[in-house]
Amino acid sequence: MKNSILSVIILFCLSTLIFSQDLPGGEEALGTKKYEQYEKPEACKSCHPDIYQQWTQAMMSQAYTHHWDEIEYFDLAVEHGKVDPKFAPVADGCNGCHTPIAFLSGDVPPPRPSENSRANESVSCDVCHTIKSFKGDVPFNFSYISEPGRLKWGNKPGLTSPHHDTEESDFMKQAEFCGNCHNEKDPFGIWVKSTHLEWKEGPYAKQGVPCHQCHMPKAWGKNATMAEKSMVSQHLFHGGHDAGKVAGTIELRMHPEEREVEYDGTIVLKVQLFNGKTGHKFPTGSVEDRIVWLHVTATDANGKNYHLPVDRKGFDGEEYTIAADVLAYQDMGIPKRDPNFKGVQRDGVPFGDRIFRMPYFDPQGRMTIMQWNTKSLGVDYRIGPRETKIETFSWVLPGDIPEGKVNFKAKLFYQLLVKPVGDYLGVPEEETTPILVNSASTWVEIYE
Ligand code: HEC
Ligand code: HEC
Ligand code: HEC
Ligand code: HEC
Ligand code: HEC
Repeated sequence: MKNSILSVIILFCLSTLIFSQDLPGGEEALGTKKYEQYEKPEACKSCHPDIYQQWTQAMMSQAYTHHWDEIEYFDLAVEHGKVDPKFAPVADGCNGCHTPIAFLSGDVPPPRPSENSRANESVSCDVCHTIKSFKGDVPFNFSYISEPGRLKWGNKPGLTSPHHDTEESDFMKQAEFCGNCHNEKDPFGIWVKSTHLEWKEGPYAKQGVPCHQCHMPKAWGKNATMAEKSMVSQHLFHGGHDAGKVAGTIELRMHPEEREVEYDGTIVLKVQLFNGKTGHKFPTGSVEDRIVWLHVTATDANGKNYHLPVDRKGFDGEEYTIAADVLAYQDMGIPKRDPNFKGVQRDGVPFGDRIFRMPYFDPQGRMTIMQWNTKSLGVDYRIGPRETKIETFSWVLPGDIPEGKVNFKAKLFYQLLVKPVGDYLGVPEEETTPILVNSASTWVEIYE
């Protein structure tokens, strides 16, 4: 008797497991649902006003409508799919993460944001709260399994709501939930986005600190107007578009090897960059777009300014980590239908500055920002979670340097999008404005 109950239970568990693996996730989910199956965010607003307003300010609510997303999707990805049909399904796939309900409804490409269709809801409340689990072993490429309906999965057990059912979901509380959209593999099999994978191999995963603790921090309050107070997960999702989140992410210190240097000598400065704040590498996510650079200057006793280029370390691929006068991103000429396109400046930052990045290369070996057209990745010179990098600056003093104090300043900047690319594509300046991550200073005394 006991045995047969046990086997029924085992059979039941097995079948739900197999059954949920049978539900569509990833590419196969295209067109398997209808818009009407998903509730609009406004339906949640009356009872969850704080969370609703937080969401409207987060990039989640703009993942489809944001200017740079619209430009890259319509001007590059969709056009690339027209020139080379191999990329058409890839362009459809953009929507699997940027506007899941359009993707699931088979409305690809969706109408332009200006047409105000439901695609504009982007990553909405009902998208996330009806995700049941994911398909496969590693979450990536919108591998989530969506089951829209009355049941909204949440992080607390035993709650009741007049509008819907709700149940506790262990899956929602895990970093894997975010990994569905924060890991991406392109048609060449390259991991072009790997925030969840970076987190997983870093110190925070080992200490049980998921994404939520830094991007959805908990605070005392109400999660619904009629609810009892409790610790509530704030829907901030703040990242690269929040200058305050980026500020201080890397701590900078700088010192000279010697405090007093003869006027015809060489000053050697060391800069330490400690990643004390991110749970993954910095920069992460849209690594093909982002640029982080270290700019060091000196001011002599007469007030004259000098720019110091970084010392080379000599590792493979280092040339991509030092700003230079070279062109790149020639593959934008394909969707732009300009076969003679020479490319634009690769970096757009002062020559000689150290760049913390990982270059993406197209099938011809040229640097690209079209992540779906990436055939290989270059040297990974980003700053890992809790990693410290040291950069050295050796400065042979100019012949006319006056006696007295020389002051040094180091500044670390972050930019969402490489400026020459943004200018070429007509992306508004807010996407290419440098954000100061941190700064440091030190001094040296020059004597005759
Ligand atoms: C008529 C009011 C009302 C509406 C409309 C409403 N909710 Fe709720 N919701 C509640 C209440 C009440 C609770 C329980 C809160 C409590 O007791 O802490 C709740 C709980 C939840 C939970 C579980 C919270 C947890 O901590 O586990 C989720 C998730 C949720 N709602 C999502 C939604 C979404 C998504 C929508 C829109 C599609 C929505 N709600 C619309 C009233 C509402
Ligand atoms: C990108 C996915 C995502 C979106 C979009 C999203 N949520 Fe959530 N929500 C979550 C996750 C994940 C949790 C659980 C957080 C945790 O475990 O700390 C959560 C928790 C909640 C809770 C419970 C909070 C608590 O601690 O009691 C409510 C209520 C809720 N969400 C409602 C909404 C509403 C309403 C919207 C839209 C305005 C929305 N969510 C949009 C992912 C999302
Ligand atoms: C359904 C897909 C999806 C899921 C699930 C998802 N995200 Fe995102 N997330 C996106 C997209 C798309 C963007 C890019 C928005 C844009 O276009 O800039 C984004 C952007 C972000 C950003 C960057 C915001 C900025 O300022 O640039 C953060 C931080 C973030 N998500 C955190 C999370 C966390 C934490 C979770 C899990 C709790 C999560 N996301 C789950 C799709 C998703
Ligand atoms: C220990 C805290 C911490 C954890 C854990 C953490 N993050 Fe972050 N995250 C940050 C900070 C700080 C930033 C801002 C600096 C930056 O852009 O990297 C950030 C930035 C981001 C960005 C924006 C990157 C960009 O350049 O646009 C995304 C997306 C993101 N996080 C997603 C995630 C996801 C997904 C996870 C879990 C797999 C996660 N984060 C875990 C602290 C954390
Ligand atoms: C697996 C999910 C996924 C797929 C597929 C995907 N994206 Fe994204 N996309 C994201 C996430 C998550 C971010 C945010 C990363 C970050 O903040 O660094 C993002 C960021 C971006 C950004 C930068 C947004 C900004 O404001 O800086 C653009 C542009 C973009 N995606 C366009 C596309 C296009 C075009 C495609 C299809 C060729 C595509 N994405 C496919 C998840 C995805």
